[in-house]
Amino acid sequence: MKVSSEKQAHKESIRLAEKAVAAQAEAAARDDYRLQYHMLPQAGWMNDPNGLIQYKGEYHLFYQHHPYSDKWGPMHWGHAVSKDLVHWRHLPIALAPTEPYELGQEGGYGCWSGSAVEIDAKLTLIYTGHVDGREPMEVQCAASSVDGVVFDKHSGNPLIPGSPDTGNLGFRDPKVWRHDGLWYMVLGSGKEGKGKALLYQSEDLERWEYMGTAAESDGTQGDMWECPDLFPLGDKHVLVLSPMNMPDAKNLYMIGEMDYASGKFTPEAQAKLDHGPDFYAAQTLLDDKGRRIMIAWMDHWGSEMAREDRGWYGAMTLPRELVLLPEGKLVSRPVPELELLREDGIIASGVTLSNGNDMEWSVRDGQGFEWIAEFALDGTQAERLEMTLLAAEGSGESTVIRYLLRENKLILDCSASGHADASISEVSVSTETSDTNGATLKLQVFVDRSSIEVFVNDGRYVLTSRVYPSALTGGITMKAKGGNITLQSLNMWNLKSIWS
Ligand code: FRU
Repeated sequence: MKVSSEKQAHKESIRLAEKAVAAQAEAAARDDYRLQYHMLPQAGWMNDPNGLIQYKGEYHLFYQHHPYSDKWGPMHWGHAVSKDLVHWRHLPIALAPTEPYELGQEGGYGCWSGSAVEIDAKLTLIYTGHVDGREPMEVQCAASSVDGVVFDKHSGNPLIPGSPDTGNLGFRDPKVWRHDGLWYMVLGSGKEGKGKALLYQSEDLERWEYMGTAAESDGTQGDMWECPDLFPLGDKHVLVLSPMNMPDAKNLYMIGEMDYASGKFTPEAQAKLDHGPDFYAAQTLLDDKGRRIMIAWMDHWGSEMAREDRGWYGAMTLPRELVLLPEGKLVSRPVPELELLREDGIIASGVTLSNGNDMEWSVRDGQGFEWIAEFALDGTQAERLEMTLLAAEGSGESTVIRYLLRENKLILDCSASGHADASISEVSVSTETSDTNGATLKLQVFVDRSSIEVFVNDGRYVLTSRVYPSALTGGITMKAKGGNITLQSLNMWNLKSIWS
């Protein structure tokens, strides 16, 4: 009796939330900043990707969702599916806060971030119930579905009723995976100024045993690690995390060794997954092709645009495959399925960009486009290469990708991109080993109305930013300064919308 009234309350809460989304969807769809080929909510607010999994042949992407407004609020889990990681279909909201461990009166509460696993043909979501002011404030919960659409909360919730430790900052964002016949869970936490990834183990996904701290900050890597994800890649393990209060970094990965017996992860190297401002709360899944696919929230907390009223907010990055190169470098590359979007390409090859002269190419309308350019850098006297995008005539706006040859520095300059957030991001493009492959620079760039993702040298470095130009153009202008540079090849395509 009790169980069914809980189910009923959940169903009703989802019905109301769906109604709220439907009421805003038409207005949201008309907004100029809506992306054409990125995953985004029909309406309302979206942050972290949650529960990434392939289940019954489809990729499932859940997300932190506030259906009632375009601002963050009581968290629900939005839900979308895709057969190819490119075309997404929205499904009904999967989780709404209805139980005491996730329902509050005011402040932050709801079904916070987590992950998904398949067990006995069921799709099970494992998430944090969060209620501001409640003690304990964060607990770990589960909900399951037989059809991958309608989820029932576990009657034994919360499965982990509180933090193993007192005085910590956060106890949330469970990422669960299976290893050698057992379930493991990493959780984001922090204590005394150091971010931590806590580790749990379970035989049945219900009873969880605390194994201790798998990894923690060395004192410079933030005071709370949100959304940790720990997984094998090649013959190593990789820990991905979103550190809070780490100067100059909003995302981080560590490559190292995982010892399951002691529950300790020992990092050997670290770097950023993405060097732009808008990449947060990345989560990965392993698909049936054996690929480790990563999707992140293409935004950052504190974005100017979050203060606008547009009926929707938030977008995901393009799905990227993570690959560990033999020399130990982690690369992230857009999945090849994205080529399905290409249409009306233009090609150029063997073009000399002569000192100071603009060269221009354009595609149809600039709503969404992709280009891949390879430059020969050997023997040139040039000091810089500059590529200007999203520069509608008379707007005074532009987004610039700049490469400084002497410093080997790649800069994404969004300081004059348009409305709201201005940022300048840079990354040192190391020339050691095979990085420049005979001193060539390869850029693959995706522009989608209000976003830009720049992949450098086949995903060795990535820079992602939201941009809000007041008008759209599909043009690109290239210029070499201080000498000539050969553009070996340029391929450029309009990309189709997935939403029309
Ligand atoms: C990360 C995060 C998570 C939390 C969720 C709440 O962006 O703060 O730690 O679970 O967002 O929406």
